[in-house]
Amino acid sequence: MKVVITYGTFDLLHKGHVNILRRAKELGDYLIVGVSTDEFNAIKGKKSYYSYEDRKMIVEAIRYVDLVIPEEKWEQKPDDIKKYNVDVMVMGSDWADSNEFSGLQDLCEMVFLPRTENISTTQIKSDLKA
Ligand code: CTP
Repeated sequence: MKVVITYGTFDLLHKGHVNILRRAKELGDYLIVGVSTDEFNAIKGKKSYYSYEDRKMIVEAIRYVDLVIPEEKWEQKPDDIKKYNVDVMVMGSDWADSNEFSGLQDLCEMVFLPRTENISTTQIKSDLKA
């Protein structure tokens, strides 16, 4: 069984989120999603509309998702790869140049998928405000 993992905040779920989850699942048989906790978002300087528990519940309801785990810190990825026997890690292409993933390619395959154009949680929030 090929295990795929991806990470994100997944607040105010939109089609960009659904697209990346669908494409991630297509790369294997079992999809794990690390959803950022509220505490981790605070470290990243982000504040989500929905709580971690609500975002977890919503992501769990997506048909492509087999398991949701908390993303609590930057350094947990090597442990997750070993713990869940991850074969492929998927991230949006916005992360392709990040140092965060250097070293991980020795542990699993790294795939960066292009983002869906013209949509983001930040955009939705600012459109609703306007
Ligand atoms: N994503 C995507 N296409 C988009 C928006 C997000 O493929 N249009 C992907 C991101 O690359 C990431 C995952 O969805 O792998 C979760 O992203 P997240 O940061 O939660 O979503 P954003 O909409 O980018 O949120 P924000 O605006 O708060 O950064």
